Amino acid sequence: MLVLGIESSCDETGLALYDTQRGLLAHALYSQVKMHEEYGGVVPELASRDHIRRAIPLLEKVLADSSVQRSEIDAIAYTQGPGLAGALLVGSSIACGLGLALDKPVLGVHHLEGHLLSPLLASEPPAFPFIALLVSGGHTQLMRVDGVGQYAMLGETLDDAAGEAFDKSAKLLGLGYPGGPAISRLAEFGDPNAYTLPRPMLHSKNLDFSFSGLKTAVLTVVKNHPANICEQDKANIARAFVDAIVDVLTAKCMTALKQTGLKRLVIAGGVGANRQLRESLNAAAAKRRYKVFYPELEFCTDNGAMIAFAGAMRLQRDPNLAK
Ligand code: KG4
Ligand code: ZN
Repeated sequence: MLVLGIESSCDETGLALYDTQRGLLAHALYSQVKMHEEYGGVVPELASRDHIRRAIPLLEKVLADSSVQRSEIDAIAYTQGPGLAGALLVGSSIACGLGLALDKPVLGVHHLEGHLLSPLLASEPPAFPFIALLVSGGHTQLMRVDGVGQYAMLGETLDDAAGEAFDKSAKLLGLGYPGGPAISRLAEFGDPNAYTLPRPMLHSKNLDFSFSGLKTAVLTVVKNHPANICEQDKANIARAFVDAIVDVLTAKCMTALKQTGLKRLVIAGGVGANRQLRESLNAAAAKRRYKVFYPELEFCTDNGAMIAFAGAMRLQRDPNLAK
């Protein structure tokens, strides 16, 4: 079965072709980061309009790269939500239009399921069951995954998502958008002993998270500074922020593994690209003989491959969905 995937939930237009026999045949991505940079965040109207401009050329590209004819596509999967309404509408309209023109079934995919299953696209995919930490710009969730479509929520953020905390703290430090990679890079130069920031809910018995207090703590440190905060101090604050958030995410993952008795941990979503988080998780897991799986770096953030893949897995499991 050959599935075309379309992702357009936020500021990335992603198209991909996944074949259940041959694997990922092609994928193409256009990031709108440069366009939104000057506004310090995603402007929904601009995002929708740009998806319209990019989607069809990207479709032509994945078809050309894989030498696939449109008529060979068996089904079309698109991101149904969550995301920006206008941006999602573009993806769904294109998917439905193509479905009608090609007389092929169209399937809406949950964006987070796409992220959740993205590590299965790697060359050494994890076997089920596993614990998944989903850390994106909009969500922070810990889940037990027993198979495709078999997800049990173990804990989630009570306020800000991890990616949101990265982005907002980066903004407070005057770093560009998206803030996650920027604050992470700056933290490399920071002194780990200069500041200590709170680790919210680190010792709570449950698997929920809360990051808004951490963001407020960054705000307080920044406010208590003289107007011209020097570069080294910015790096020190960045370091304290990254250390705090990484500590909490790592500890909760270890608790989830311990509580469920599972041995495999899967990390998905944009924050999963974070170097400090990966190092910390790898070290903690190695100590306890757990194994951690990550998506390929290019599939950590939003992309069409994860949507094509999730759609294909869904259709394989329940062919009635294609009717
Ligand atoms: O999964 P994603 O591309 O989009 C959503 O579904 O939200 O995640 C985007 C988030 C942003 O908050 C971005 O700052 C964060 O992932 N991010 C990172 C890194 N790369 C992306 N955060 C920390 N370190 C990174 N290297
Ligand atoms: Zn996402």
